[in-house]
Amino acid sequence: MKPSLILAGVVQALQVCAASGAGGKLGTTIEDRQLDQDIVTWDNRSLFINGERLMIFSGEFHPFRLPVPSLWLDIFQKVKAMGLNCVSFYVDWALLEGKPGNFKAEGVFDLKPFFDAAQKAGLYLLARPGPYINAEASGGGFPGWVSRVRGTLRTSAPDYLAATDNYMSNIAKIIADAQITNGGPVILLQPENEYTGAVSYLPFPDGAYMEYVIQQSKKAGVVVPIISNDARSSGHNAPGTGVGEVDIYGHDNYPLGFDCANPTVWPSGNLRTNYWSTHLQQSPSTPYSLVEFQAGSFDPWGGWGFEKCSELINHEFERVFYKNNYAAGVTILNLYMIYGGTNWGNLGHPGGYTSYDYGSVIKEDRTITREKYSELKLQATFIQSSPDYLTATPGTNTVNEYSNNGDITVTPLLANDTAAASFFIVRHTNYANTASTNYRVTFSTSKGSISAPVTNQTLTLNGRDSKVMVTDYDVQGTKVLYSTSDIFTHQKTESGVILILYAGAGEYNEFAIQGSRSAVKEIENGADYVLAGDNSTEFVTVGWTASPQRSILQIGDVQVYLLDRNSAYNYWVTSTGDDGSKIIINGPYLVRSASIADNALQISADFNKSTSIEIIGAPSGVTKFTVNDREFTLNGNGSSLTANITLDEPRYDIPALKDLEWKYIDTLPEIKTDYDDSAWPVADLTSSNNTYQRLNTPVSLFGSDYGFNAGILIYRGHFNATGWENSFSLWTQGGSGFGASIWLDDVLLSSFHGDGSSEYSQASYNISSLEAGSAHVFTVVVDQTGHNELSIGEDDMKSPRGIVGWRFDTTKATNTPISWKLTGNLGGEDYHDAARGPLNEGGLFAERHGYHLPNPPVSDAGWSASTPFDGISSAGVAFYAAPFTLDLPSEAWDIPLSFVFTNDTSSGAYRAQLYINGWQFGKYTSDIGPQTEYPVPEGILNYKGTNWIGLSVWALDEGGAKVPGLELVAGTPVWTGREEVQLVEAPEWEARDGAY
Ligand code: GAL
Repeated sequence: MKPSLILAGVVQALQVCAASGAGGKLGTTIEDRQLDQDIVTWDNRSLFINGERLMIFSGEFHPFRLPVPSLWLDIFQKVKAMGLNCVSFYVDWALLEGKPGNFKAEGVFDLKPFFDAAQKAGLYLLARPGPYINAEASGGGFPGWVSRVRGTLRTSAPDYLAATDNYMSNIAKIIADAQITNGGPVILLQPENEYTGAVSYLPFPDGAYMEYVIQQSKKAGVVVPIISNDARSSGHNAPGTGVGEVDIYGHDNYPLGFDCANPTVWPSGNLRTNYWSTHLQQSPSTPYSLVEFQAGSFDPWGGWGFEKCSELINHEFERVFYKNNYAAGVTILNLYMIYGGTNWGNLGHPGGYTSYDYGSVIKEDRTITREKYSELKLQATFIQSSPDYLTATPGTNTVNEYSNNGDITVTPLLANDTAAASFFIVRHTNYANTASTNYRVTFSTSKGSISAPVTNQTLTLNGRDSKVMVTDYDVQGTKVLYSTSDIFTHQKTESGVILILYAGAGEYNEFAIQGSRSAVKEIENGADYVLAGDNSTEFVTVGWTASPQRSILQIGDVQVYLLDRNSAYNYWVTSTGDDGSKIIINGPYLVRSASIADNALQISADFNKSTSIEIIGAPSGVTKFTVNDREFTLNGNGSSLTANITLDEPRYDIPALKDLEWKYIDTLPEIKTDYDDSAWPVADLTSSNNTYQRLNTPVSLFGSDYGFNAGILIYRGHFNATGWENSFSLWTQGGSGFGASIWLDDVLLSSFHGDGSSEYSQASYNISSLEAGSAHVFTVVVDQTGHNELSIGEDDMKSPRGIVGWRFDTTKATNTPISWKLTGNLGGEDYHDAARGPLNEGGLFAERHGYHLPNPPVSDAGWSASTPFDGISSAGVAFYAAPFTLDLPSEAWDIPLSFVFTNDTSSGAYRAQLYINGWQFGKYTSDIGPQTEYPVPEGILNYKGTNWIGLSVWALDEGGAKVPGLELVAGTPVWTGREEVQLVEAPEWEARDGAY
């Protein structure tokens, strides 16, 4: 720890506010806590940064799932544009320490550009280095070699702890350097992951273990607060629980689970309503923190596809569930995932396929067309516009107290101070209700009790909707006495104040704002509105019905925009400088940033079509307007300006993959009778350290025992027949979705095609015709799908991959020994490709030789002209490579590209691996699915030059297989303000020493 940081020695209790009260009220006495810094502090309601109380509204994004560092800023800006102010990220140990003792965080694995981009976008970071992360990552982030550790993982077992030390000291130092105390963006660190339960025979919770992990970070200089993520609100490791306690207690919740089969079904009882009361029992001195809250779902092999998951966890889910989180007073909220990305290069766990889109807020191809993006923007912008939310005290949910209809539940967050706002979260009592319900509300305000509507209209809550109503809400110095509709934001501009309200189209709402009724001026009249009440009060009451045509009313200093929700989706709030000034822009697909200098307004924004935009709240005198450095004419004047952003459709061609000059090489030469495997690693370990699965074979055939931790494993088993063999039984294990084929000499015995759930397969083969004394070889190909995640004490991560058992059944008691060899990626843990990391390649002949890399030696012997669309006519594995050129206008256009397989099994079942410029960006299974579309980002793809596609096609059955169709497909081009994408380092093929 750095001495200068220890000096800070701040006592946390200083931050406690003056008011007093019982649990949950501001000012509750909290224990004095020595902090190692004074920048990030907290009390029982929220975090403070540099003394400023704030909501940490965060989204999860894993840099390792988008291996193009120059695109990280793009994601960050899309997160920031929603109103979020933080990103939480895991680090995947398996990618950084592929060989024990050999920590490498360079190239796409370097986190420095991630920290820089976060800072550039203006986001804080919550660092989650593990060592265990879960995350649907292979081994839950544990490198495959961890399966050789005898001790129980995620416990105080000394050999396990020792195995984590090198990684943790290195990664924690990298994170420590990026802390806010050192001028960086990192404000919080979460050790371990969901340290919540263990098998019954283990002492749990093991405080010493958690403390060890915390100290690993602290020793490397981490001084920011340590936050936990209990899997559910069990109170583990909360402050006051003793050894292993964290600074701030947090928990996770995925209320709708992970089955995307029936996306419209919300089972009863899945909305938790006791968060706050539980929090008061478990961790009353810390802000209520949801460190992972559901924002999508993972999906298994054979699953439903991520579009279904995005329907399950959609904008309606956000309305009902996220607003329920505000009802519980959450002030540290991290949504998992905000951007999922890709399980490229075997980094995923067996429970998932290549895409990690997650049905999340930002799609895997980085587009933001899901409605949940827009809905989240409305909510986050509101919370960030409502500082009183951070001090209001959550109450209990009520029926018939604030509303007159038992079908409506209202949860108040009441102000502690008469000058502050109260918030009322309104939802259906049966949260899954799809009906529209009429109701009235009654609030006590600083002007006495108000019952709304005051007109003879009625309020309506549509199915699966929820609203945040306010009373005594401050709008830049003007009071809104109440509003029954949601607020988007309010901003001060040079010429006054803008307040934006929204509601579902057709809904009636009311608000009362300080001002005089006679002075109300109609600026636009689209949505119907009425002025209620009389002139005698200091408040004007407006009843209005949301419609796609807005109304704008000038009431005193405030211009009130009355929008329907779909229109509100198009509004963006953007800072124009460090002084806190902001403008509101209506229209673009995305606004990234803005600045004003010398009467020139510049914005960086994205457009997916020609759009008329409106700039609200620009300072007077702005005469020049540029979007992405292109000048546009401004119309209008003062605080409301318009411009027509016309796009010239870009022109480009996307190559037809079927027309490429494909070259083919047999990548399973092992099944040829003259194949020479003398250079192969010999399976010679007669024991295994694997404590999860007993060795059932004379020598271990577990891939990771020999350092083969990812991708396809191949075995060669030589034996001399006695002639008494009847059958041969083989057990293979590769994780769900895995596949396997077994050949005897050059004859396919059979293949296991795999399915969504089988982790292993057992089969017996008739080999009764072998002649006594004849020499034979089995070739076994196992396509493993990664290492399992693990629960504490189960050590499931150690579940071995490869052959886990074999046996001859003989008619006479004879013994037929087999001498085995095996391979995975060339070199195993001494992997060859530092740029793409330890997991990117597997054990196919073409992979061992690096033919999946750009510019393979396609004119050498062994290669011939043939295409994946011709395929192969017998079982085996083919490898195809071809160059193609792209020339896309990517300086100014963001054009998502995907490789799309035709979903058709009539031309033979096959498993394919897709390599783009050497990066494995797809594992396709023709008969398991569900993924057929594989987005590949620019940066991996060279949008202005030559690219190489490599495709392995494993024909599982005797008739062989061909790829019925594979196309490169472009999505809607977006004229973009993102920074230009830099190609990642993608070393080309060169002959590999010792490749076999
Ligand atoms: C959580 C876990 C995350 C991720 C998530 C499901 O329990 O902490 O790492 O696995 O579930 O996507």
